[in-house]
Amino acid sequence: MQLKQQSLIDLPKKKEKMNSKPTPMMSQYLEVKRRHQNYLLFYRMGDFYELFFDDAKIASQQLGIALTKRGKLNNKDIPMCGVPAHSAQTYLSRLIKLGFKVAIAEQLEKKSESIKNQKKNQKIFERDVVRIITPGTILEEPLLDSKKYNFLTSIYIKNGEGSVSWCDMTIGIFKTKNLKNSSLRQDLSELLYKIDPGEIITSEEIINNLLIKEELKNWKNKITLIHSTSFDLKNNNTKIQNFFKVSNTRSLGDLEDSDICSAGALIDYLYLTQKDNVPNILNINIIKDEEFMEVDKISSQSLEIFSRINGERKGSLIDVLDKTISACGARMLKEQIKNPLLSISEIQKRQNFVEHLINENSLIEKIRELIKGIPDVERSLSRVSAKLRNPRDLINVLNFIKKSIKVFTVIEFSKNLTLKKLLPSKKNIDELSSLQKLIEKNIETEPPISLQEGNVIRSNVNLHLDELRNIKDIQKKKILNLQIDYSTLSNLNSLKIKFNNFHGYFIEVTNKNSDKLLNCSEKKFYLIQNTLHAARFQTDELKKISLEIEQSEIKAIELEKEIYFKICKKILENNALINRTSNNIAYIDVMNNYAFISRQRNYIRPTFSGGKKLSIKQGRHPVVEESLILEEKQFTPNDCEIEIDKETWLMTGPNMAGKSTFLRQVAIICIMSQIGCYVPAKSVDIKIIDKVFTRVGASDDLSKGLSTFMTEMVETARILNGATTNSLIILDELGRGTSTNDGLSIAWAILEFIILKKKCLTFFATHYKELTYLKKRFPSISLKTMQIDEWQGNIIFLYKVIDGISKSSFGLHVAKLAGIQDSIIKRASEVLKNLSEKTFQKKDVKNKDEYFEFEDDENAHKKQEIFRLLKKINPDEINPKEALELLYSLKKKLSNK
Ligand SMILES: Nc1ncnc2c1ncn2[C@@H]1O[C@H](COP(=O)(O)OP(=O)(O)O)[C@@H](O)[C@H]1O
Ligand SMILES: [Mg+2]
Repeated sequence: MQLKQQSLIDLPKKKEKMNSKPTPMMSQYLEVKRRHQNYLLFYRMGDFYELFFDDAKIASQQLGIALTKRGKLNNKDIPMCGVPAHSAQTYLSRLIKLGFKVAIAEQLEKKSESIKNQKKNQKIFERDVVRIITPGTILEEPLLDSKKYNFLTSIYIKNGEGSVSWCDMTIGIFKTKNLKNSSLRQDLSELLYKIDPGEIITSEEIINNLLIKEELKNWKNKITLIHSTSFDLKNNNTKIQNFFKVSNTRSLGDLEDSDICSAGALIDYLYLTQKDNVPNILNINIIKDEEFMEVDKISSQSLEIFSRINGERKGSLIDVLDKTISACGARMLKEQIKNPLLSISEIQKRQNFVEHLINENSLIEKIRELIKGIPDVERSLSRVSAKLRNPRDLINVLNFIKKSIKVFTVIEFSKNLTLKKLLPSKKNIDELSSLQKLIEKNIETEPPISLQEGNVIRSNVNLHLDELRNIKDIQKKKILNLQIDYSTLSNLNSLKIKFNNFHGYFIEVTNKNSDKLLNCSEKKFYLIQNTLHAARFQTDELKKISLEIEQSEIKAIELEKEIYFKICKKILENNALINRTSNNIAYIDVMNNYAFISRQRNYIRPTFSGGKKLSIKQGRHPVVEESLILEEKQFTPNDCEIEIDKETWLMTGPNMAGKSTFLRQVAIICIMSQIGCYVPAKSVDIKIIDKVFTRVGASDDLSKGLSTFMTEMVETARILNGATTNSLIILDELGRGTSTNDGLSIAWAILEFIILKKKCLTFFATHYKELTYLKKRFPSISLKTMQIDEWQGNIIFLYKVIDGISKSSFGLHVAKLAGIQDSIIKRASEVLKNLSEKTFQKKDVKNKDEYFEFEDDENAHKKQEIFRLLKKINPDEINPKEALELLYSLKKKLSNK
């Protein structure tokens, strides 16, 4: 989203235009702000972040905090608001969620200078932006969804080609995919759906590219425009080499030019926002289509894989399958569900783990118990790497290592050779243990959330640090003694020595006693402040002690920082190891998750014998089954046996009989099988499916302003282009969105086309009973319907798939069930009887010879051209030579490929 704030109207554009000279602090601010106009600038001032001018107005309004002022510029008050630094995250998260981008300017700590400042030297801190937070570059735990990746995504398109790169820097994932097809827009749409970006970066030029303009409109809330030079090929080559520390981009894999353009822009943006602290990312992953089963956006939506039609996760497939314990496991599971495999051996590798976990007594529970509470180490590590100084991130690393080693130990004990493949090497475990010791030895168990607060490093780690802390203790005792001395001296029992941030240590007495100190002859008490009831004093020796304490505190914190950063460096050197271990844990969690749900719900291991096209015995729909269990109802299982050359099922049956549930269950079982998960059935044997297409009729897409029917046709066209003999097509009530005759004819033609041209597994549920006449022409069709019982004029759904054709549509029965008056139902029966007699006669089915044979597009095109040429010829006007030449050229046209 572009920044919602208006331009900084109040901000003086050039120095010379200012009437009054700004304070040094304000000129510093203006300089920083000028370089960060598109962001809300959080400006660090001591314990606060302050915002000025329009930024202050916007933030105070959005956050509901007080708008005040600080000083004047050009005789006008400078609007100001502030938030305490220690609670800034809450405010930041609200602003980011509202779509703002925030630049954080910190006081740059040069040691000598910060100490000078503490002595109340007037010289001001150097300040600059250390980080920009945008929706795609968040590092803070509370702003991130732990079950989801947060992908910053870069789109590059030029001359009908392009590339998308995406990266979650909190995990260290960086991927790129080339888009080259004729169907660029749809491929982009599919890819963006899969990525589900947190923020998209692209240029003005690209966003206006006609090919993708419409698609990008859907994402306009997520788009940040960057300069087109960010996509420059030559510069980006170098950027990528430097970023991944390689001497040649080719060593990263098969990167095309456009990949380099999009990936380089992404790297640019990481540097723009993270400045010098971009988290380490080790590798770029080049995504190719051929590795995974394709389940396109609409199929995934109609199968309710990631969310219900209403957008909720509850009741979706992932909701039912995800019983993972860890955040990294949940994210990996989602990735696996998004990308079912095509390689049988890869699938079987996962199945083997699941099988052994199920067989091993109580291992599933043990692992689940141990993973519970494991920190999200990848994200902690990225914060350490980005130099966010929250010592609790190191404690997260520590607890992660401790817990994962425990998990590895129980697997080690299992003695099962397959399960042992889940373990990291002994060497890696030793390395992890030494990191564990390093943190345990140095860092307090419960450190504060900011390094600045001190008390992060344990005592007995560094002698000098202990000494500095000692000084503090000794001096504090001295202060206590001073308090006793001064009370005696002044004869004031109520005299107290107190501390605040402004004065340091000072003496306080009530106002009426103030003269006693002022007139004390033995000691010089300086009056430094009068409050309503009290007078505050200082003495030379108290001032000296106060300063010494302050200095030793500052030195101690500096020293703590030094030690802290050394430990961070050591941990970051092992970045790859820790991330790999986190991946191990995620994988164990996901495999264990499959084992857990499979055992609990009697899922079985699918096989891939290659015999039949598909064989599902006693299959169930995992989501509907779960919801029925809650209602204490039974799900009725169904078989689905499909021989080669009998791949089309045409299903008729009344509403509410269970057709859609059955069709979806077939698709879901196929997808789950290729994920490597077990499935809800008695047995399943399948041939690898390359693509799944599911379309459900009449799913209006009102937001896009397309009519239902148009949407249906656009969706269907994609199937007709994309499906191969190894695909699975499910068409549920196709054509429902238009008038009966149109709908019927389109459904008819499409079914013919699929049978003749695609020859793939096809399930076609329809309320057009007329379609069943196609069986006469195509023996590959099997006619199926749902079993119904009628009892005392009511219908009872048995949810069993049986051979045959639905007797009637039973629509009137459903209407009756729904409470429509008897008289209306009776009248409707009469109308229905009349209509059925008149409308559809057998003559509508063509004889075999009458069928229009589908032509290759290419042939049709040739014929058209030849036809055009012939039409032009007037035989009376050409000579024999011309006629002969024409004949040759026609002949050539025909044979041309
Ligand atoms: N195999 C089954 N066992 C038990 N209940 C089922 C089964 N299939 C469907 N149902 C129930 O019937 C309802 C309607 O099913 P649905 O598939 O939408 O029917 P149709 O597509 O034929 O109109 C479902 O919401 C579910 O509650
Ligand atoms: Mg239905």
